[in-house]
Amino acid sequence: MQIYIHIPFCRAKCKYCAFNSIVAQNDLIDEYVDALCMEIKQSIQTQAVSTIYFGGGTPSILNIKQLSKIVDTLYKDYDLSHCIEFTIEANPGTVNKSYFNDLRKLGINRLSLGVQSFDDKLLHNLGRIHNSEEAIENVKTAVSIFDNVSIDLMYDLPNQTAQILKNTLDTAITLHTQHISIYGLEVEEGTEFGRLQGLGDLKLPDDDESDKMYELITKELPQHGFQRYEISNFAIEGFESRHNLGYWSDTEYLGLGAGAHSYIQSESTFGLRFSNTSNIREYIDGIKSGLDIKITEEILTQKAAMEEFCFLALRKAEGIDLNQFTDKFGVDINCVYSETIDKLKYEGLIDVSNSHIKLNKRGMKYGNYAFAEFLLDP
Ligand SMILES: C[S@@+](CC[C@H](N)C(=O)[O-])C[C@H]1O[C@@H](n2cnc3c(N)ncnc32)[C@H](O)[C@@H]1O
Ligand code: SF4
Repeated sequence: MQIYIHIPFCRAKCKYCAFNSIVAQNDLIDEYVDALCMEIKQSIQTQAVSTIYFGGGTPSILNIKQLSKIVDTLYKDYDLSHCIEFTIEANPGTVNKSYFNDLRKLGINRLSLGVQSFDDKLLHNLGRIHNSEEAIENVKTAVSIFDNVSIDLMYDLPNQTAQILKNTLDTAITLHTQHISIYGLEVEEGTEFGRLQGLGDLKLPDDDESDKMYELITKELPQHGFQRYEISNFAIEGFESRHNLGYWSDTEYLGLGAGAHSYIQSESTFGLRFSNTSNIREYIDGIKSGLDIKITEEILTQKAAMEEFCFLALRKAEGIDLNQFTDKFGVDINCVYSETIDKLKYEGLIDVSNSHIKLNKRGMKYGNYAFAEFLLDP
């Protein structure tokens, strides 16, 4: 069982971000931490925990007292003796050396720092609270304290060129983290970038520049030992995120906190998915008064489970494990998806072997198109 804990608070809202997070006062954060501890106590499952992930929002906005309260509750109520990976997301501008040392003392062994870019102008245009010098300083400190550090970067950003991205990648490589996530910008509704795009005021890189950036990422990172193991994730061998690999490999997870999602397997169905209300006030009041805070609950049909299994597995470089598909669904994948497989093979997006079906480099660029092909008729 994996545990995800959502912290829906940030110092400022970035212009591109649609994640469930708000700018809040410490009083509300205290109330939220108390509710979260109550939810942990109410949620007890018997399985041992393999990974824990504090995501956000900005989990590093919590002070050590608030974080300890949550972590202590987890230690009390769950068997963490087999927990191999304990990650926290942290933002440059909210952390320092003593904070990192305190995180280590809490048992956290992996740090994911949201850097986005090492270009000051871009950082400013994204609405980030830090500049590149602060980010470099924070990454260096993190690497000196943790054995497993990841940074998040972004590409396809407004006014970003392949050359600007190259400078960022070059800097990233010199910092010797073990892991780099790099996401292509998705312009989301409800964000400042979404609004600007609606007005025709968001200047994104053209296809040619975007292709150059993609080529740069997929060439430069592996050249420096970062193997691509998922569409947006690169790691030094042995430092792939176990928690995130779980999401793409049909592993159960329990999501705690406002807007958190869970996936639980069961003998009699193809799995159960549910999620908490993302409204923070509703979440806190609901937990305090013992009300149901779930807003979605779905028992997966075989069709939905097959679709999800395929498009989640296809995110990984190793792709769909054909034996795992047969074991789970009792049917050979070719009996269900032969047309899709032939089509994507013909279009040069997938590679097929006796044991796996995987997206190739071009397929990973057009992942969303390929995933949609795995949707089955109603
Ligand atoms: C859950 S977010 C939060 C991380 C952390 N709060 C931070 O910003 O430093 C994880 C990552 O998703 C990426 N991200 C967020 N919004 C995105 C978007 N609209 N398009 C592409 N990537 C995005 C960013 O790289 C971000 O660091
Ligand atoms: S990118 Fe990170 S810091 Fe920025 S608003 Fe989203 S969650 Fe908060």
